[in-house]
Parts: sequence; structure tokens; C-alpha cells
Amino acid sequence: AELMNRLPVIWLELQDCAGNSEALLRSDGPKIDEIVLDIISLEFHESLMAPAGHQAEKQLEDAMEHFKGNYLLFVEGSIPVGVGREWCTIGASGENFLDHLNRVAEDAAAVVAVGACATFGGIPAAAPNPTGAVGVMDVIKGKPVINIPACPANPANMVGVVLHYALTGQVPELDSLLRPKFAFGYRIHDNCERRAHFDAGEYVEEWGDEGAKNNFCLYKMGCKGPMTFNNCSIIRYNEGVNWPIGVGRGCIGCAEPDFWDKYAYERPM
Ligand code: SF4
Ligand code: F3S
Repeated sequence: AELMNRLPVIWLELQDCAGNSEALLRSDGPKIDEIVLDIISLEFHESLMAPAGHQAEKQLEDAMEHFKGNYLLFVEGSIPVGVGREWCTIGASGENFLDHLNRVAEDAAAVVAVGACATFGGIPAAAPNPTGAVGVMDVIKGKPVINIPACPANPANMVGVVLHYALTGQVPELDSLLRPKFAFGYRIHDNCERRAHFDAGEYVEEWGDEGAKNNFCLYKMGCKGPMTFNNCSIIRYNEGVNWPIGVGRGCIGCAEPDFWDKYAYERPM
């Protein structure tokens, strides 16, 4: 159903790969066309809008002015605050990402950090973190910040936050890491389709073995599902087609803080 007034959204990309934007394009129920035409008014998104250059910059300024205090600001990508602060600049003025984010966030109603990088610094913040990358919550204070981590964030969780906000005018209930509880209130392991094999002590012991062919539990191959809070074991990705454990790789803990250093390249036991 169409909302009376579409919710104005400004979307910034900072130190990112556009993976969260890509994920959003593959939203399933509602699909991206319904989101953009009926639910939100996407005022600015570098990768998805028609204007470029000065026209794009003007579009951003106009939207900030017109929807002052009312827009939701989505941020994708980390913010360099260390020596790398001047390496990432945007627009004709050469404004760095930190100043850019602070300026655009100033008049936002709330800020939604999507993906591992915008929430917890992600891959740019992995050791040795050459740019001094941090997440949005380390920069933006004094207004609501909602974290939707994972690499990429699940579009269902982005849409869930948008719909909750559009319908109630409130941010959903958050946990201590500012994650919506509806999505991050339980571990991958709690709802994993291979959980019965874990409980039965049936593990993949080596890539390509009989256990792998039978979809046994990936714990011994380094699966981080027991330590990772996210709901991809229920809603999957790419319109529900599949997800990491479904393809037999195991979870690398992509929704957790510092996942790259802590989990992603730990060797299988
Ligand atoms: Fe848990 Fe991972 Fe095994 Fe699934 S594959 S049951 S998340 S350890
Ligand atoms: Fe990420 Fe693990 Fe889900 S790697 S996408 S949290 S299964």
C-alpha cells in the first residue's frame, strides 16, 4: 500500500564497494521499484540517480534544504578519520568524507548505517587500517543512529527499518550495538538449516568430503554462526535464493564488529 507521504531518503557512499546498494536492488518483497516509487523518495544516491557532477551536488543541497530535519540519511562505507582523512574527498569543493558526513547528517532525522563498513569500520578498518577508518556511530553523536551490519547488509533489514520509521515515526528497538533487535536478536546458529547435524555431531571435516556432500555442519571448517548475530539463516539473500551456509562455505561473521581481523581469515580447526 502506498504511504501518504513518501519518506525522503538521502544515501551517501563513503569508503565502500556499493555492495549494500547492490543488495538493496535485489530486495524481495517489496521489490526495489515499489520501495523507490511508493515507500521512499530517494532524493540522492550517487549510484542510482540520473544527475551527475554539479547537477548531483545541487540535488543533494536542495534535498537537504527542502527536507530539513525530516530525511533519513543512509550511509554506506566507512569514514577515514586518521591520516587518510584527506585522501577521500567528494565534490568540486574537495570536502573530505568526515566533513561531508557531518554536514549531511546535521539536519537528518536519523542516520542508518548499512553494511559492515558504515557500522563498524569493516574491511577498510581491518589491520593496519591505513586510513583510520571508523563507523558512523563513532562520528555522529546527538541523534539516532541505527546500525544494520553485515557484508552486505540484508535488504530486508534496510526495508524493515524504513517501514518501521515511515509507519511509526520511531526507530525500531535497538540493542547495545545500535542494531535493530528484530534482525539481530539471535545468532545464525540458532536458526541454521544445518543445526540438526551440529546437534547430531555430524560435521564437514574436509572440503568436498562426504559430510560436505550431505550438507553437514560447518563448525569444524571454521563456521562463525555460533558467534554471529544476524537473521540471514532465516531470510537468506538475493530474493531468498541462498546464503553463505547454504552454499557450503560457512559463516565468516560478517555482521560482527572487526569481523575481518577476528573471524574471516581464521583457519579451519
Ligand atoms: Fe551452527 Fe555453522 Fe553448523 Fe550452522 S553450519 S549449525 S551455524 S556451526
Ligand atoms: Fe554474513 Fe554469516 Fe550471514 S558471513 S551473510 S552473517 S551467514
